[in-house]
Order: sequence, then structure tokens, then C-alpha cells
Amino acid sequence: MMRYLDNAATSAQKPLSVIAKMWKETLLTSVNAGRGAHRKSLRAVNGINKTAESLARLFNIADPSRIAFLPNATYALNLGMLGALSPGDHVVVTAMDHNSVLRPAALWGNYTIVPAGPDGFVDPGQVEKAILPETALVVCTHASNVCGTVQDVKKICEAAHECGALFMLDAAQSAGCMELDAEDLGADLIAFSGHKGLLGPLGTGGLYAAPDVELRPVITGGTGSLSESLYQPDFMPDILHSGTMNTPAVMALGTAAEIIENPEEIFVRERALAKDFEADLKNMDGVIVYGTDGDNRNGTVSFNVDGTDPAVLEEYLDRQHRIIVRAGYHCAPLAHKALGSGKTGSVRVSFGYFSTDSDRMAVSDAVYDFLNAHR
Ligand code: ALA
Repeated sequence: MMRYLDNAATSAQKPLSVIAKMWKETLLTSVNAGRGAHRKSLRAVNGINKTAESLARLFNIADPSRIAFLPNATYALNLGMLGALSPGDHVVVTAMDHNSVLRPAALWGNYTIVPAGPDGFVDPGQVEKAILPETALVVCTHASNVCGTVQDVKKICEAAHECGALFMLDAAQSAGCMELDAEDLGADLIAFSGHKGLLGPLGTGGLYAAPDVELRPVITGGTGSLSESLYQPDFMPDILHSGTMNTPAVMALGTAAEIIENPEEIFVRERALAKDFEADLKNMDGVIVYGTDGDNRNGTVSFNVDGTDPAVLEEYLDRQHRIIVRAGYHCAPLAHKALGSGKTGSVRVSFGYFSTDSDRMAVSDAVYDFLNAHR
């Protein structure tokens, strides 16, 4: 039996209804949405709109047309960050952010990285201090893809707004598996992946832009709207919908979003698995666990066996126990530096929607076996 515990990378196990929808729409709707007015094009438009409506319900977004579909959260973060910034603007990001935030910031050039503590948290007060008069945007990850810490994004969003900057949430690790209320949070931009907590197909994600947020187009092209103009439409979602979309995948994402009735319940279940796993690890000599053991965390756990290359343990878990985890830097090198795993990265176990206590016990036993075999 294989156990998949790399849900922070993607939820490899998909509900059968999502797979069935993908298959059905590949047969029926493998067409460009809104290009022409033929029946298949209209079916695609309706399907995509339906997914936007399902996500708007899940994220408490009043206007579904403010959601654009993109291949993943990385595209959403790039298009949101580079689209919200104008020449001379400064952007604030944090050490807990993924390279999909850090690299656009570095590409932009005028940025500050707010440090994080060894517990994996960013202090909103430090974010406030990093904001300059020319800061136009603050970006922060909701939940760390390395150690699962959940940031106080409400306070960080308030700090940005008090200084007149926009706030962008990286919801790659939280969409679908944590409560995410766009209205209550007040975020100006929310980038999300569709293929992780939302249980949708690979190659799905998106960007929400609040009604008063204006973006500059970064990628231009055919949108099926205003086709006589040489300029990109300036309205959502078309401003971000250049080129052919993976229509069946976006439609299947809608099916997935309908399955997720209570993200908070999923969060609590995944967190309980993570906390029990951490407790198991802390009972083993020579195991270092990174980040908080408090409640503001999700189902992702990072650890190392002292003196062992994380890649060796990853391979052992896969080859000897058929347990899939991810080792290394997880595309978040500054988070590892803050947590104390900057030299080697870590082994990451990330529980997901389908994870069970049997998975938790199996991975704990496997780490224990590794320790016994290598001592
Ligand atoms: N960002 C994904 C991860 O953390 C791929 O593994």
C-alpha cells in the first residue's frame, strides 16, 4: 500500500467525481471558452463561470467575475504582484514566503523581506516597520509550505492598509483546507492553487482581485473579448485570461470546490494529524522538528534526523515503506534559514484531505525504523 504524504506539493489523490468531470468535459468541452458563440464555446463559458461561482461561495467573494483562472498559484502571484506594481513602487514580502513570491520581488528589484522567527511566524509589527512611503504592496503567505505555520494575515493586511498599501495573500497552502473569507480578511488580491487543498486537477489555480483593484496586464493576447483592439481588456477576468485555458480542468475544479463543504473541519483534522506526528517525533532521540507546536499551524510538518541528509530519509521512506514525502528546500530557502534548517533543508510530511491516523502511525513507525537501522 502506498501512502501519499506530500499534499503541500499537490493533492495527488483526487475525488472520483473530479476525475469523472475532467474526463467528461475533455470529451464534451475541449474548446476555447468565449471564442465564437457556438454551443461548445458557450458550454465552456458556462462551465468556467460555474467554477468561479463555486469558489466565490467558498471564499465569500461577492462577485465571481473577480476570479481569474490561471495554471497555478505561481502564475497568480506573478501576475498579481507585477500587475499591481508601477515604476518606483516598493513591495514588502516575508521570509516565510515561497520562491513564487520571493522571485517576482527580486525581479521587481525594489523590495524588503521581513524576517521570521525560528518558530516560523512573521511579526505583523515588523511588517509595519518595513513599509515605506513608496510601498504599494505587501505580500504574505497564509500558511507555510515548509512547517505549516499560519500567519496572522488579518493583522498584516491591516498594517498594509493603514499605510495605504495593497495586501496580497498567497493562499497556495490554505485554499480549500482552511477557512478563507475574502470579505472578512479584506485582502486586495488572493492567489490560490486549485490542485492542492481544493483537490482540483493539476494546472489549475487563480487570482482574485477585489473590486477596486486595478491591475496592469503582464501577459497579453487573445481573450475572445474586444478582439478589434490591440490592447488587452482592462476588466476582470479577461485582463488575465490570455490564451487557451484548460477548460475541462477548470470545470473539474468546480466539482472539487463543491465537495469541500467545511474547510475549517479539514484544517482541524489535518492539524490534529500533524500535532500527533510531531509528538511522535519528539519522543525519538536525534530528531529535530522545525517551527511551532502551537495551534496556529496546519497539517505540514518539517523535521530532520540529526546528521542525515533529508534526501536519504525521503528515499528510505519511499523505497522501504512506500511513503511519499518531500525533502529539500521546498522552494522556500529563507523559511528554512529562519527555522534553522538552512544548511540542508528538511524532510516534509504534509497531511491532506485523504490522510488518516493509520498514515500518521505508519510514517512515525517508518522514521523510528530508520533511526534503529542507522544507529
Ligand atoms: N510549492 C510546492 C511545495 O511546497 C510545490 O512542495
